[in-house]
Amino acid sequence: MSLAYLNGDFKALEECQVSVLDRGFIFGDAVYELIPVYNNKPFQLARHLKRLARSLNEIAIQTPHDDQQWQGIIQSLIDHYEQEQCSIYIQITRGVAARDHAYPKSVAPTVFVMVNPWPTASDTYLTQGLSAVTLEDIRWDRCDIKVTSLLANVMMKQQAVNQQAHETLLVRDGVVLEGSSSNVFVVQAGQVFTAEKNHLILPGITRDVVIDLLQQCSIRLIERAVSIEDLKCADEIWITSSTKECLPITLLNGQAVGDARPGKYWRQVYDAFQTMKSL
Ligand code: PDD
Repeated sequence: MSLAYLNGDFKALEECQVSVLDRGFIFGDAVYELIPVYNNKPFQLARHLKRLARSLNEIAIQTPHDDQQWQGIIQSLIDHYEQEQCSIYIQITRGVAARDHAYPKSVAPTVFVMVNPWPTASDTYLTQGLSAVTLEDIRWDRCDIKVTSLLANVMMKQQAVNQQAHETLLVRDGVVLEGSSSNVFVVQAGQVFTAEKNHLILPGITRDVVIDLLQQCSIRLIERAVSIEDLKCADEIWITSSTKECLPITLLNGQAVGDARPGKYWRQVYDAFQTMKSL
């Protein structure tokens, strides 16, 4: 039985309960983080905690724990878990209050942390790549905050699933922003492009890691708007996230990307990622 953390207590996940009046349940008034764990250690913890603090600040919830306390909670859950590769999910809601849209006064946030098994990536993802479809982005204008209200992402992801694809790439005004749960990189003639950080994308931690690795590998990266035309004539497309790491898209809207095989630049970054994980 996996151990979880709820409002100051460690208990079995099955025993964790929150009120139906919790604003996370009623309004989706909550933020979250997902942190990969390799070799029993949270990966890029400082960056994840910094993003969590920013998300909380943006929606005016006071940070319930400092970084050292978060680290203690997270490590206790990892130490209790039997797999050395897993992921940590943190959710903080504004707390429990009578239903009213405005922020309630003097309510303690609900703090929940659980461990999830690592999703086993199929080998074919690495040898053949994934497929994606493009779709008009129907989300709001604050995609930079990691909020739990993910209905638009869920609906757009389902469109990919309905078409036997793995991910939906989101397009606004002809510009490819990110995936429904990932960031996007495009390779054209040896140059790598990814959308700039702004209010229309989530500032992915894996995106930052991949940017560091590109620099290490002396591969040129440009942060700029990626158009739907860029996608169509891309040699390679990659998606990045804490659970997918960095994976190649080889089929887009049913058409081959490049030569329809995982590309050489992706391979270099993927190998560098695996080395970094094991350090
Ligand atoms: N999602 N963009 C969106 C919309 C995302 O939901 C995610 C990750 C990312 C990549 O961020 P990171 O590299 O920090 O994981 C980009 C997580 C994994 C999820 O919701 O499960």
